[in-house]
Amino acid sequence: MTETRNLYIETFGCQMNERDSEIMTQLMSQAAYLETSRPEEADCIVVNTCSIRGKAAQKAYSLLGGYRRLKKRRPELVIAVAGCVAQQDGENLLKKMPHLDLVIGPQNIYRLPELVESARRQATRTTATELSKDFVIPPFLPQVNGTATNHKRFVTIMQGCNNFCTYCVVPHTRGREVSRKPEDIINEVRHLADHGVREVTLLGQNVNSYGQDRGPAGTTGQIDDFPALLQAVVAVEGIYRVRFTTSHPKDLSPELIDCFAQLNKLCPHFHLPVQSGSDRILARMNRKYSRADYLARVAQLRRVRPDIAITTDLIVGFPGETEADFEATMELVNFVRYDSAFSFKYSDRPNAAAAAFDDKVPEEVKSRRLSLLQQRQEEISREIGRSMVGSTVEVMVEGRSKNSDGQWSGRTPTNRIVNFTGPDSLRPGELVDVYLEEACRHSLRGRMRRAK
Ligand code: 5AD
Ligand code: SF4
Repeated sequence: MTETRNLYIETFGCQMNERDSEIMTQLMSQAAYLETSRPEEADCIVVNTCSIRGKAAQKAYSLLGGYRRLKKRRPELVIAVAGCVAQQDGENLLKKMPHLDLVIGPQNIYRLPELVESARRQATRTTATELSKDFVIPPFLPQVNGTATNHKRFVTIMQGCNNFCTYCVVPHTRGREVSRKPEDIINEVRHLADHGVREVTLLGQNVNSYGQDRGPAGTTGQIDDFPALLQAVVAVEGIYRVRFTTSHPKDLSPELIDCFAQLNKLCPHFHLPVQSGSDRILARMNRKYSRADYLARVAQLRRVRPDIAITTDLIVGFPGETEADFEATMELVNFVRYDSAFSFKYSDRPNAAAAAFDDKVPEEVKSRRLSLLQQRQEEISREIGRSMVGSTVEVMVEGRSKNSDGQWSGRTPTNRIVNFTGPDSLRPGELVDVYLEEACRHSLRGRMRRAK
């Protein structure tokens, strides 16, 4: 019998990182490492880091610092840093923290078992952070083990970003855009569907430009852009719902908007980060669209799919942002009425152009603007929730609700959480109709009418 060891993995950041952690866990399980929820028990610790904002990177650093104690106690423990902080800080991490063994960038996660083995046997300390524009994301069939969370999965379709927004670290940590081969993506989705997965979310930093790095558009019938890929994914038998994230408004094509008119399985939810409502700030952010361009796209989406929920990301306190610029963002938020929004205080990131801008906004101004914005958005989200009460919505069952009392929990096509009463026989991944009776702070409540 092979000896088994324990793997502890901690993940920060976006869904891309979550998917990468799943891949690392699966690769390590093939090398006889079983996942544990207790770092003290681990033979290998992986911290998959995020560098998008200053706070996320600091969290990773302080967690890693804390593991010094575990390494002291058990020198054979292997500690690896993966993700965007690893890519960004590279070898310096090993210099700053002598208790770390491995630094692995996002393109190198597939080498994890091999690197852990050599760290364990020969005590080698390695930095694997090469970023190649010719990188090919290896085909990789995910493990599906029939647990409650397994009815929906992420599928990475591309990595990297070519846009260089002036606040953003991603092009520096994830490199240039690399699209996966369409046949690898479709095989992965088929494999998931065959194992009971009912919903997939296609992932990439900018999915709208899928395929553009794979050469000029090919012959008819080939999957060479994102709308064509979506059509092929919704055609996979057994998949009931398809989502994607994230999109750059400048690449939102009329063909993609058309997909929302034609593809029933494509959920009416579009995450379309606007970042700011001020043209002056958008230009300084190098976003390559104006407020009017953005609003026109929102209007087109709503024309073809009136029930579409639009969500967004917003940054307050970008260098040079005046009260008037901030007001423009508030106006835009009031006008669009986002279903929900993630909003952040601007923070300087290494290598991002805006770090060198000299008209930084004071911290207390950023905090005030953030709280005004978040308050207003919360009101809007609740108003939208309340307007849904009295209607019947399709819900995909996720599992028992966390609030106990025997309720079920699931999600609407627009991705809102619904807690509802229903029979014990329900299974995750099933679609049911739920009559909505109440809007709570962050969820809806109702009762099941019928299975679909
Ligand atoms: N400061 C604050 N927020 C940022 N984001 C990206 N970079 C920064 C930064 N330097 C936000 C953007 C992006 C989301 C993922 O994180 O809103 O869409
Ligand atoms: Fe964070 Fe961006 Fe890296 Fe995702 S890609 S982990 S959001 S820095």
